[in-house]
Amino acid sequence: MTVKIAVLVSGRGSNLQAIIDSIEKGYIKNAAVNVVISNKADAYALERAGKHGISAVFLDPEGRDRAEYDREILNVLKRYDTDLLLLAGYFRLLGSEIIGTYRHRILNIHPSLLPAFKGLHAQKQAFEYGVKVAGCTVHFVDEGLDSGPIIIQKCVPVLPEDTEEILTARILEQEHIIYPEAVRLFVEGKLKVEGRNVIALA
Ligand code: GRF
Repeated sequence: MTVKIAVLVSGRGSNLQAIIDSIEKGYIKNAAVNVVISNKADAYALERAGKHGISAVFLDPEGRDRAEYDREILNVLKRYDTDLLLLAGYFRLLGSEIIGTYRHRILNIHPSLLPAFKGLHAQKQAFEYGVKVAGCTVHFVDEGLDSGPIIIQKCVPVLPEDTEEILTARILEQEHIIYPEAVRLFVEGKLKVEGRNVIALA
């Protein structure tokens, strides 16, 4: 059985690319990205989808409230018979209807060691705070902001000569490793959620 994946994006789509590549290389088996949905018409992620023969859908949020917009997303998810929803640089909050419908079936990648530095510009927040260790997190999405149960985290050092850009690049490199890893665990049915704890079964 193939796990049908939909990905929500807003921009560049390098994490989307990491997932697509992991499937094409056979690192993630029995899964397919069937549709990529963007709230931005010019998101490069839509082009990436097209290059791999994946349906690319732009849904314009203009003039719609969150509930209406989310219902449009839900329609697309249903049309593609989606099993797993991935947020990959999707810069909007999801409403409770989608979260309720896909409980424990929505993953997000965040460029900080949660629960530190939630929200936008997490790498900048960490850099300006002066942390010595930064990193990234893959977590399930719940109703809060970057608050769902944590699946995988990866640390990177913050070095004295770093700039925010250098740190961001070091974190991104790890994002491209842990996001496919988390998707693989999900697809293999190895993630068990107990309250806030996610157990990765052997
Ligand atoms: C990544 O840093 C991700 O962690 C954050 O937004 C950025 C998206 O980058 N949520 P990309 O579109 O995957 O290249």
